[in-house]
Amino acid sequence: MMKGARKVAKNKFYITTPIYYSNSEPHIGTAYCTVVADTFARYYRLRDYDVFFLTGLDEHGPKLARSAEERGYTPKEFVDMMAEKFIKTWERIGITNDDFIRTTQERHEIVVQRVFQKLYEKGYLYKGSYAGWYCTPCETYWGEDELKEGKCPNCERPVEWLEEETYYFKLSLFSEPLLKYIEEHPEFVFPESRRNEVISFIKQGLKDISATRSTVKWGVLVPFDPKHTVYVWFDALINYISALGYLREDNERFDRYWPADIHLIGKDILRFHAVIWPAILMALDLPLPKTILAHGFWTIKGGKISKSKGNRVDPHELMDLYGVDALRYFLLREVPLGLDGEYSESSFHRRYQSDLANDLGNLLNRVITVTEKYTEGKVPEPSLHGERERELLDIIENSIKKVESSMENLNPASALTSIWEIVQSANRYIDQSAPWNLEKMGKRDLLNTVIYTLLETLRKLSILLYPFIPDTAEKIQEQLGYKDKQFAWDLLWNAKIPVGQRVQKGKVLFPKVDIKEEKEETSLVNINDFQKLDLRVAKVLSARKIENSDKLLLLEIDLGFEKRQIVAGIAQFYSPEELIGKKIIVIANLEPAKIKGYLSYGMLLAGKDEKGNLSILTVDKDLSPGAKVS
Ligand code: MSP
Repeated sequence: MMKGARKVAKNKFYITTPIYYSNSEPHIGTAYCTVVADTFARYYRLRDYDVFFLTGLDEHGPKLARSAEERGYTPKEFVDMMAEKFIKTWERIGITNDDFIRTTQERHEIVVQRVFQKLYEKGYLYKGSYAGWYCTPCETYWGEDELKEGKCPNCERPVEWLEEETYYFKLSLFSEPLLKYIEEHPEFVFPESRRNEVISFIKQGLKDISATRSTVKWGVLVPFDPKHTVYVWFDALINYISALGYLREDNERFDRYWPADIHLIGKDILRFHAVIWPAILMALDLPLPKTILAHGFWTIKGGKISKSKGNRVDPHELMDLYGVDALRYFLLREVPLGLDGEYSESSFHRRYQSDLANDLGNLLNRVITVTEKYTEGKVPEPSLHGERERELLDIIENSIKKVESSMENLNPASALTSIWEIVQSANRYIDQSAPWNLEKMGKRDLLNTVIYTLLETLRKLSILLYPFIPDTAEKIQEQLGYKDKQFAWDLLWNAKIPVGQRVQKGKVLFPKVDIKEEKEETSLVNINDFQKLDLRVAKVLSARKIENSDKLLLLEIDLGFEKRQIVAGIAQFYSPEELIGKKIIVIANLEPAKIKGYLSYGMLLAGKDEKGNLSILTVDKDLSPGAKVS
């Protein structure tokens, strides 16, 4: 009995993603985190670990309630609708989560309440009042000294002043124990730069934090004082144990999987995970997760991709054009985990074309073609290996070891680099061995060996690729003639492709995609194209003529979330005075440009008829600045 239990514990692997706010649809940032977690989960399953992979949604709090209201839904209707979208997207990307937790589920709410009751009874919560700043988009409390030019230092949007009764959590008690723990466990926060960030934050001294809201209705009721709801971040963090059944009767999963091996998160939510969450766990006398792994941001021209900036990259669009595995491959390969990654259509296209279509796709295609041509489409019997075969086998062996250590060191990008060493070596091997010449020279034995070696290399590649680009891995095995798929790490060593197995040519793995042509062919736009434009209502605060120009006006506008300057070519149609106070419509995510030496960030919309009359677009009824136009 004991023995069995120990074996399970040794081989388990529990990985989580953050639970995403469901007020906006999945985007490349959330897809990234989920794909990385999925890759680890698939990898450890191949390695025969008992894996539990959790993802889900953060559905409470004022931000969600407001988003629902703005769209005319009740919060419940809204989160149910959005959950569908997330689930469908993850299915399409091949995410193999074992559970999907939603904070509005009863199974979660019960645990949150029990945790709160426990913390209260143990004396970690006390009543007080909070007066200070709050950023609703980030659901974060900020001190006056932390604000950046009066705005949220994280998302740079306006903060709100709060004054309300609250229960505080005694975070201040945990400065010393946390520091000690982090010092004794160097693997607790990764990468190291983030670990240092956490240490210096704790060293400044931790203050008690507000853990409940008495002015927010959309949340979990505090069991000992139901005027309050649980602060959304406390509610959310608890998902990592509620999904396992902590403090519930059905807590078998909790015993089996806790503590988590990896909490994968983005760098912006590090403090919640590496400071507040471990403090809560310490207060509950629970062991801490092994590693908090913080990844970087995807950026466009250096700025974070985010809905609020209107530069969202839609994963569905990329999958429509390039396929699921191209998306997974790009996200995993382009940057080492932990660093920021710059996204551009051209870098995506380049990866697709060179690594996937040219290197991998061609390799498979060439190998299947020579097998069909020279050995009647069957796996031939190899004879003795020569120098070249040994060289290739050495490279494969070495690369496998590197893949293992890269995964151990939390670097899937470098694991892929090692796999591509095999792909490239196999392409070289085929060029150097030139099977087409061996046939002519009558070197049958050698020809059989070359073809066998290539097929066997592809079999190994399919296993190695499975955690990263599973669809492709399956297609490779299909073309190699496998009816039942063979995915397990030990098959890298303990199996060989069966002699006599019939290969099967299939569709080209990565067909040519011409982005330019795609765009030029069509004059219709679809709804996704339209949604790329961030159209907003803006109020004109000031306007003046630009010197030496009779066409241009310089406008200062209020976009709700920020003030901007735009240059508009309307001076012949409007005087500056008549524009002040008007509510206009602007494209808020137009690339900034310099016009006559003035920075213009955004463009107002106006109509012009054939007679040359111009009229700017305004709103029919009053709308607040920043209102989205769709
Ligand atoms: N709901 C909280 C998490 C609670 S976990 C107990 C939350 N949600 S979020 O939807 O705003 O963000 C989820 C994750 O997406 C964060 O880890 C964040 O870093 C990540 N990303 C959002 N935009 C991103 C990029 N542009 N690039 C990479 N990831 C980024 O925070």
